[in-house]
Amino acid sequence: MRPEPDRPLPTPLGPGDAEACVDLDRSAFGGLWSRSQWARELADPSSTVLGLRPDVVPPANALVALACGQTILDEFHLTAVAVAPGWRRQGLALVLLEALLAEARRRGCLRATLEVDGGNEAAVRLYGRLGFRTEGIRRAYYRSGGDALIQWLEL
Ligand SMILES: CC(C)(COP(=O)(O)OP(=O)(O)OC[C@H]1O[C@@H](n2cnc3c(N)ncnc32)[C@H](O)[C@@H]1OP(=O)(O)O)[C@@H](O)C(=O)NCCC(=O)NCCS
Repeated sequence: MRPEPDRPLPTPLGPGDAEACVDLDRSAFGGLWSRSQWARELADPSSTVLGLRPDVVPPANALVALACGQTILDEFHLTAVAVAPGWRRQGLALVLLEALLAEARRRGCLRATLEVDGGNEAAVRLYGRLGFRTEGIRRAYYRSGGDALIQWLEL
C-alpha cells in the first residue's frame, strides 16, 4: 500500500538529529531536555527515537514530531512525545506512537509504560486512544501540582 502523500512515515532519528530535537522540544515543551540529554538519548542503543519530517515544510524536511522510549528488559518505557504546535490534531502523535510501540514489540517488549501529568488532557486522551490504562498515581508529583499517572499497556 502506498503512503498518503500528505502523511509522512515515521523514521528513526540518530545523533545527527540532536539540534532538530532540541528545537522541537523547545517549541512543544518549552525545553524538556538539554542538548546533551538529547545527544545521549539519540546515541543510546536501548533508546528508540522516531520522527516525522513532512517534505512540504520549509525549511526542507523540518522535524515536526518526535516520540521516544527506552527498552528495559521486556518493558518499553515511553519517555516523550512532542508535536510542533502548528501540526497538532492531525493524527501525527498517534501515527508516531503506533510505530514506536510496533518497534517495541519487535524488540521483544511485552508491556509498555509511561508517566503522564493527569492535568495534560491532550496526552491523557492520546494515551487512552492507544489503550494505556492508569495503574498507579503519585499525588502532586509535578511542580504544577498535577498528579503523575503511571500507565501500562500490554503489547
Ligand atoms: C500531546 C500531543 C503530543 C498530541 O499530539 P497530536 O499530534 O496533536 O495528537 P493527535 O492528533 O495524534 O491526537 C490523537 C488523539 O489524542 C487526543 N488529543 C490530542 N490532542 C488533544 C487535545 N488538545 N485535547 C483533547 N484531546 C486531544 C484526541 O483523542 C485525539 O484524537 P482526535 O483528534 O480524533 O480527537 C501534543 O499536543 C503535544 O506535543 N503536546 C505538548 C507535549 C506533551 O505534552 N507531550 C506529552 C507528554 S510527554
